Amino acid sequence: MRQKFRGSVPGTRWRYPRPRADGNLNLSTDFNFDRPHATHLVETRQALLREILPACVQAQGLRTVLDAGCGVGYFSAFLRDMGFEVSAFDARSQNIEEARRRHPGIRFNIADMEDPALQKLGQFDLVLCFGLVYHLENPMRAFRNLRALTGKLLLVESVAIPEQKPALYLRDEPEIEDQGVHSFAAYPSEGALHKMAYRSGFPYVARFASLPDHEDFRSAFGRRRFRTMLAASMTPLGAPHFVPVEEPHNPPDPWMTDPTGVTKMFRRFGKFMEKPWQEKLTAMWRRYGPG
Ligand SMILES: C[S@@+](CC[C@H](N)C(=O)[O-])C[C@H]1O[C@@H](n2cnc3c(N)ncnc32)[C@H](O)[C@@H]1O
Repeated sequence: MRQKFRGSVPGTRWRYPRPRADGNLNLSTDFNFDRPHATHLVETRQALLREILPACVQAQGLRTVLDAGCGVGYFSAFLRDMGFEVSAFDARSQNIEEARRRHPGIRFNIADMEDPALQKLGQFDLVLCFGLVYHLENPMRAFRNLRALTGKLLLVESVAIPEQKPALYLRDEPEIEDQGVHSFAAYPSEGALHKMAYRSGFPYVARFASLPDHEDFRSAFGRRRFRTMLAASMTPLGAPHFVPVEEPHNPPDPWMTDPTGVTKMFRRFGKFMEKPWQEKLTAMWRRYGPG
């Protein structure tokens, strides 16, 4: 039997069942995409794209774009307004109907990111996959599709679990229009995103030199950063917007134990030293602070 979702959704301040659009919020729509927390996240990511895309267009000659997991089309319309020839898809028919109603000139399709038949859509110079990878049961299958669909450049924005290893974390999700379609998803770590990008066949993978100006992309006191972005490309990516990353490699023997505890102590110390100062202080507060 399917389990009822309990818990909070990353990036939202409220818990489920969600409040409906009502007089208090003064919303004329019942779509989560139009709620203030969602549009704020859209605007800050669009501001970053406005900064970096002109240089990408110049370096790679980008003209056609695919917006994967487009929702009701915020990014599709934004990219069209930047001058790209835009196609888009989403697995939910109600999102696509609404996207078509809002933006009649754009080609919107109903399609599943995990379905190999998706590759029939063809190839696009730029593929934008924002807010989708962590909603999937099988993110690696999605990356294989993304590789097949990408002619030149793929940009991914995703929630990333705070884990150094290339790992996936299985998580329940609520059944609403801006979440996954299976009520269950494999959330990747940042290392997992990098590894899947390399293993799906992209020769160049990079992280963003700067991230959107939004709290989800920053760590704070008592909370780790939970969103990230990556670029995967068929040609080299470089400064000033991208920082190349290497493919993460697996530890030689994750099953090995250390009865003396010495290796573990050194490993923990090494990890602690790698953290930024803010995270070091948070970790010390958690360990030695009151309570
Ligand atoms: C969090 S919203 C992201 C919307 C938009 N891309 C953004 O970043 O603001 C996730 C979207 O992915 C869609 N989605 C979920 N699972 C999908 C799948 N397997 N294939 C295609 N779209 C999917 C949802 O219907 C929803 O519209």
